[in-house]
Amino acid sequence: MPHVVVVGGGGTGGAVAHDLALRGLRVTVLERGEVTSGTTGRHHGLLHSGARYAVADATSAVECIAENRILRRIAPGSFEENDGLFVALTDEDLAYLPGFVEACRACDIPAEVLDRAEALRREPGLGPEVRAAVQVPDGTMDAMRLPLRFFATAQSNGAVIRTFTEVVGLRRQDGAVTGVAYRDDVTGEEGLLAADLVVNAAGPWAQRIAEMAGVDVPIRCSPGVLVAVRGRWCDMVVNRLHRSGDGDIVLPQRGLSVIGTSSWVVDDPDELHLPEDHIRTMVTEGSRLVPAVAHAEIRAAWSAVRPLIGDGGSTTGRELSRTFKCFDHAERDGVEGFVTISGGKATTLRAMAEATADVVCRRLGVEAPCRTREQVLLPHTAYYTSHESMRSTTRRAPTATVTPNADATPAPTARPGAVARTVTTSRTATTGGTATTSTGGTTATSNRVLRVSRWKPGWPAPAQLEYVVPVEPRTTVLDALRNIRWHGDASLTVRHSCCHSSCGTCGVRVNGAEVLGCVTALADLPAGPVTVEPMANAPVLSDLVVDMTRLYDGLERSGRPLVRQVETTGRTPRAKVHRSGTSPASVRLEDCVECGLCVSACPITGTDQAYLGPAVLGAAARVVAEPRGKDVRSVLTWVDDHDGCWRCHLSFACSEVCPTGADPAAGIMALRGALTREHLRWRSDGHRGADRPADEERTAAR
Ligand SMILES: Cc1cc2nc3c(=O)[nH]c(=O)nc-3n(C[C@H](O)[C@H](O)[C@H](O)COP(=O)(O)OP(=O)(O)OC[C@H]3O[C@@H](n4cnc5c(N)ncnc54)[C@H](O)[C@@H]3O)c2cc1C
Ligand code: SF4
Ligand code: FES
Repeated sequence: MPHVVVVGGGGTGGAVAHDLALRGLRVTVLERGEVTSGTTGRHHGLLHSGARYAVADATSAVECIAENRILRRIAPGSFEENDGLFVALTDEDLAYLPGFVEACRACDIPAEVLDRAEALRREPGLGPEVRAAVQVPDGTMDAMRLPLRFFATAQSNGAVIRTFTEVVGLRRQDGAVTGVAYRDDVTGEEGLLAADLVVNAAGPWAQRIAEMAGVDVPIRCSPGVLVAVRGRWCDMVVNRLHRSGDGDIVLPQRGLSVIGTSSWVVDDPDELHLPEDHIRTMVTEGSRLVPAVAHAEIRAAWSAVRPLIGDGGSTTGRELSRTFKCFDHAERDGVEGFVTISGGKATTLRAMAEATADVVCRRLGVEAPCRTREQVLLPHTAYYTSHESMRSTTRRAPTATVTPNADATPAPTARPGAVARTVTTSRTATTGGTATTSTGGTTATSNRVLRVSRWKPGWPAPAQLEYVVPVEPRTTVLDALRNIRWHGDASLTVRHSCCHSSCGTCGVRVNGAEVLGCVTALADLPAGPVTVEPMANAPVLSDLVVDMTRLYDGLERSGRPLVRQVETTGRTPRAKVHRSGTSPASVRLEDCVECGLCVSACPITGTDQAYLGPAVLGAAARVVAEPRGKDVRSVLTWVDDHDGCWRCHLSFACSEVCPTGADPAAGIMALRGALTREHLRWRSDGHRGADRPADEERTAAR
């Protein structure tokens, strides 16, 4: 079967890999960071119904509603089916309503008009300005975990996903593209990979890849700012009923409310800043829709770049369509073996992949129909538990460059400004940031020293490398690490995706304490060098990246749901809706972001690897508290063990470091309470032993 290399591990690249693998092709994805670490992981999290585009961009609206329906079918459990409200606040908004509803209906988007009272009844978080609203089938999605399901399924069908592997050139023969040149940032290896066809799915960076093939693609890089505040201040996705503008969407996501977004254009997707005035606009405009966000603590603010189809004429990006386009460069530019896919939305990733795979198969003479409309995707955890690339024993650093104590210290990749042990980065890169201690409005920079723990496969011991990084008031530990990677030392590997504490991938130990790097501002840390180490109690794969297999295995086993599918729109009692993100009673059961900080901090896990650990036990407690069809008894039987909930020694370190308030220690205590009641029941009234799980059953459950 032909071999296709996909450049870029965002949602689009993942969906392309899935489609091609299902059609029986050999597929390799090369991603320079962790998958979804580009725009994908950082988007707003809105499963579009298409209503936002119905008036001005019908093509995109039709694509969105079609894919909205398909995704709910093939990725059950990945969305909150919370619906969206388009809210009219002014006379002008009211005048927009009839045309909006008509346009929605023309695009086959269900749209129900609500008067003020009904809108407030269905979404009490709305502000007093509301005049009327229209309800549409928008939803909340997990920006990282939905694409992970595409990667996981592609992998299970034979696709190879190579992370931290940057494409640095294209192999050409007689004008045709015949493969890629790459650099592996884990091993330092540089190599060539032959391919029958290369798909350029590099999102905002697609033009750079296209240039390697000597072609141009009309991609406009259009960044936008998003702000996450603590607390879930609405249950539906609340949009302003007007032409798309700044700060006109408030979206509930786990224990946060995310306000977005703004829009401008840049030439370089890495020139991505976080303008203070955009952050202020998000809060001001967002609070007109949902007033409570004005007083909520800002958890994070960040920006990301849209890869839109368009030429140089656009000034804000708003006027460009959100549709997508697949460029067959053989047909368009006479360059065989090369296809680019760009534009679109995260919501339309599957359709983008179908269009691309159709072109690829036609070019390669493969006759296989698209099956991704029906194929239900594997859970996101399957991506990590079956992802061999980082763990592979064949992925070893060449020994010549890896002896930390020899003269040839683990050499940072030679870049301007880099010296042997101390690397100074020259560009500030605050693309995400916390806002709790920011001096707001200032962009003054100062230098900060980071001492980062480094280790690669093949090194005899970890080494600490020192980096000098320019920082602004909002610069986070993750910003600084990304800055080092992009502008100082590309060999530094660090995981990240969302930049606002919802994906859970950027856990590290900073000055000895477990934190999410994306919401830890350097300005909040004591003066002096900042030490950054990988999380403890998990094998290190490379530098700050640890193997999460055990955690994900346990989480999958617990059967916990990732999202609560329905908790509003009148279909469930309002009493189940929790508004504040601060009181323990209001913790949503889905607030765990699977970061593993609790496992790293747990003193028992440090000494007993058989212990199920706080995250998994917390997840089990969630299932017991709210089974939603799951078998509670089998979960209780599983955790009723000396390596289960009885092993905890009550240090509570897990809950202290938990970044979301998911409170795993309370979960462990709840499991003990539930088991104690069960044991008493088993011993009482002649039922002794009757329905208590037999020892063999308990052993099997382990
Ligand atoms: C602010 C904002 C909010 C948004 N909100 C929403 C929303 O709510 N709902 C929605 O549906 N859509 C939303 N979008 C749009 C959506 O995020 C994007 O359309 C989508 O994520 C693009 O995915 P992608 O895979 O094409 O690009 P990316 O996710 O950027 O993937 C490209 C990948 O290529 C990799 N790469 C680049 N160069 C190389 C190289 N040389 N070698 C190897 N790898 C390389 C990058 O690291 C990156 O991971 C939003 C976009 C923005 C900017
Ligand atoms: S319980 Fe908290 S610390 Fe543990 S994995 Fe979940 S969010 Fe992370
Ligand atoms: S990058 Fe997602 S939690 Fe930090």
